[in-house]
Amino acid sequence: MTEWPDPTRFVVDALGPDARDVVEVGCGDGTLAHRLRTAGHRVVAIDPVAPDEPGFICDRFETWDPPAPVHAVVAVMVLHHADDLGGWLDRWCGWLRPGGLVIVADYGWDLDAGASDAWAAEHADLHRFAPMRAALDARLAQVRFERLDGPGESAAVPLAFRYVGRVPAGAAAPSATG
Ligand SMILES: C[S@@+](CC[C@H](N)C(=O)[O-])C[C@H]1O[C@@H](n2cnc3c(N)ncnc32)[C@H](O)[C@@H]1O
Repeated sequence: MTEWPDPTRFVVDALGPDARDVVEVGCGDGTLAHRLRTAGHRVVAIDPVAPDEPGFICDRFETWDPPAPVHAVVAVMVLHHADDLGGWLDRWCGWLRPGGLVIVADYGWDLDAGASDAWAAEHADLHRFAPMRAALDARLAQVRFERLDGPGESAAVPLAFRYVGRVPAGAAAPSATG
């Protein structure tokens, strides 16, 4: 069975050597954050289920801000859960230094055209691909985009997507002073 593709290489490549300070939103068990640190990035990772370790914050991100603007925000398999898609992205963009990056690896459950009504019902509370893509494009200049096979219901089809966008210069939040 097809598994979700590991986003580590994609994220490391997207960050490059210059994106030193990174926030990972929805880090889960912290696997990616640990790998990004090993690759040389300074990562603060936030999730209500984050590990109880330095560099992790066990909380939702909505009431938190990084202490200084960062070079990149990374979110893997998180955006489709957003209860306020635009609000989430606005907040992430507001954390960035001018020209900073938002890196998203996610999936569009609706891209499985052969899936059953039951599959649709099971995923109905999650965002579809098109609104996520539109919300990203409304705020960011695309740097990279790809779709990959992911485990759909009817087949391994390109459900997974990866997106890198750059916040336009001058569009960072007023608090972004670093
Ligand atoms: C599908 S899991 C992905 C976890 C991890 N990124 C991975 O790829 O294994 C989604 C994660 O997003 C987290 N999450 C959802 N809403 C969040 C929020 N508002 N703030 C921070 N984390 C959130 C959940 O707790 C969960 O760990």
